[in-house]
Amino acid sequence: MRVFTHTASDVEEVCRLLLDGEVVGIPTETVYGLAADALNPKAVERIYHIKNRPAFNPLIIHIGTPGSADRYVHLPAIAQQLMDAFWPGPLTLVLPKKPCIPDMVTAGLPTVGMRCPHHPLMQRILNRMDRPLAAPSANPSNYLSPTRVEHVTAHLAGRLQWVVDGGPCEKGVESTILDLSDPTQLRLLRPGPLRVEDIEAIVNRPVLVESSSASLIRNAGPMRPNSPGQLPLHYSPHTPLRLLAHSSPEPSLTQSTGPIARIHFSDIVADSNPHPGQLQSFTLTRNGDAREAERNLYALLQQLDQAGFSEIQVDPIPQGQQWNALRDRLTRAAAR
Ligand code: TXA
Ligand code: MG
Repeated sequence: MRVFTHTASDVEEVCRLLLDGEVVGIPTETVYGLAADALNPKAVERIYHIKNRPAFNPLIIHIGTPGSADRYVHLPAIAQQLMDAFWPGPLTLVLPKKPCIPDMVTAGLPTVGMRCPHHPLMQRILNRMDRPLAAPSANPSNYLSPTRVEHVTAHLAGRLQWVVDGGPCEKGVESTILDLSDPTQLRLLRPGPLRVEDIEAIVNRPVLVESSSASLIRNAGPMRPNSPGQLPLHYSPHTPLRLLAHSSPEPSLTQSTGPIARIHFSDIVADSNPHPGQLQSFTLTRNGDAREAERNLYALLQQLDQAGFSEIQVDPIPQGQQWNALRDRLTRAAAR
């Protein structure tokens, strides 16, 4: 796989490939994406093929400047308010699409998810092209999302020809998705780096939030989920991952035979591990900082998944709304 950098000639070549209908891995502030010209159905179709993504799971589109949004979607006043407050940034808005957005992008839905990413290199590419890019996370379907260029080169080797190296992702979990298709009832489809409280403070009305477990139960049946990102089996490592109900320094050995990886939310707990042979300690954050934990989450899970542990155990996730995105991703990673 060829890895492009931020040089002017590389950016130029990446834009040319994308305009020619090719698929290129690109960095964003949340996770790496698998991008193609959103207005070219054949190019978009390639994304599904490379990811092995089911055809019913729609893609989101990325734009370079908030001002171009109304070329692609119908914008209620509340969308404009949110765009003014949070774009560029990790907020995806689901809105009624205009006819120029191909059905291939939305899997036939009348709505499309759209965001304006904050990553400087992605912005350069988008603004140079002046076209929207469809991009899901750059992982094989259902596997962990990539937050470093090496995650893309490792897991899409042989399937993808090009990727742009934009460094480690600043946020580390996928964008917050807000459904605005009914402007009278805002619905959170996926918790993410932008917190619901910050959205509510701008729009002055409550956002409907379903707990992860409620949406997991609702989506366990054969019915089609509202946001297929809510499918229970999503973002999972190959190694079994278990959320522990209680924090204990003892290995919880009930189902495991080999070495266990234990994930903590503070240094102090990690340092007091009494069984370093059976149980190796890792920490997502030194001092209980949810944003730091989010930034490290996928990189640590990818590292542990390659390391041959028989199980990954996760300490109880700290209480509080700021942990909702992390809790959501870990709950999905634990679902089998
Ligand atoms: O941070 C992100 O959002 C990253 C970066 C690359 O921008 N992208 C990303 O895309 O996470 P993806 O495809 O992995 O997740 C987008 C989610 C999917 O679960 C999809 O089902 C849902 O958004 N989605 C897309 N369009 C939708 C729509 N019209 N209505 C409801 N859900 C939608
Ligand atoms: Mg994804």
